[in-house]
Amino acid sequence: MSAQTAPRKKVTLHHLQAKKQTGEPITMLTAYDYSAALLGDRAGLDVLLVGDSLAMVMLGLDSTVSITMEEMLHHCRAVARGAKNAFLIGDMPFMSYQVEVAEAVRNAGRFVKEGGMEAVKLEGGRAMVPTIRAITQVGIPVLGHIGLTPQTTSALGGYKVQGKTAVAAHTLYQDALALQEVGCFAIVLEAIPAPVSAVISRSLTIPTIGIGAGAECDGQVLVYHDLLGLFDKFTPKFVKPYAQIGQQIGAALVQYREDVTQRVFPGPEHTYAMPEEELAAFLRLIGQN
Ligand code: KIV
Repeated sequence: MSAQTAPRKKVTLHHLQAKKQTGEPITMLTAYDYSAALLGDRAGLDVLLVGDSLAMVMLGLDSTVSITMEEMLHHCRAVARGAKNAFLIGDMPFMSYQVEVAEAVRNAGRFVKEGGMEAVKLEGGRAMVPTIRAITQVGIPVLGHIGLTPQTTSALGGYKVQGKTAVAAHTLYQDALALQEVGCFAIVLEAIPAPVSAVISRSLTIPTIGIGAGAECDGQVLVYHDLLGLFDKFTPKFVKPYAQIGQQIGAALVQYREDVTQRVFPGPEHTYAMPEEELAAFLRLIGQN
């Protein structure tokens, strides 16, 4: 299938909400740099999320917890330069919003003012209500995130599916209602049994965006590197790799090394010529004629 080429309109919150109403799925992908943003935008994706997953897939860190505001903003600016139509969301890093509400508002503002983002995402359920209220009250849209929340995997006991018991599912349900009530424009549901996500999605008037949460969410999100087969440290069950770009890159790099070693590259077609008389004059100048 070819990339979308027809000019399209800037995606806004209004479009996302309209999709919830019509039942058309919302398409979302993470992006961390200019070229990924260009490609995601050209593919016609609705939303690009500068996720803190970049800590792991771009920076090689073991988890998302140590990434900083400055690092996130650096990547946000690159994505904002590449994407013209997709709705842009910046992921608030661990400890940039949990300590004080005022600090959370200030940091959310930095995503908009310095990072070129249109909204922020933050993890957590009812405990985050005062923070989300304060951020939305200054006019910054907030995407909630419940279920498996990677910033708090130590407390969750690892990267585990959430909401598998009736009580746990009920907690997620109540969290989702609270996030909607306080003004989130949508909620990411991560690693939640499909029937639980389906009930939550049907119960909300705002869209749910699933990752490992089944087909009945109002939209889906994947990590860019997972979708493209660029990160093979581990692949969660919910990932569908649409390409094996990592293998292709690996093969290309080996070929390049061999071509250089065997003087196959560069060939005449990659080489600049010089008029013969100029070359002769040059050699005379340095005494090599
Ligand atoms: O950081 C991230 O990439 C995310 C998405 C996978 C939802 O939080």
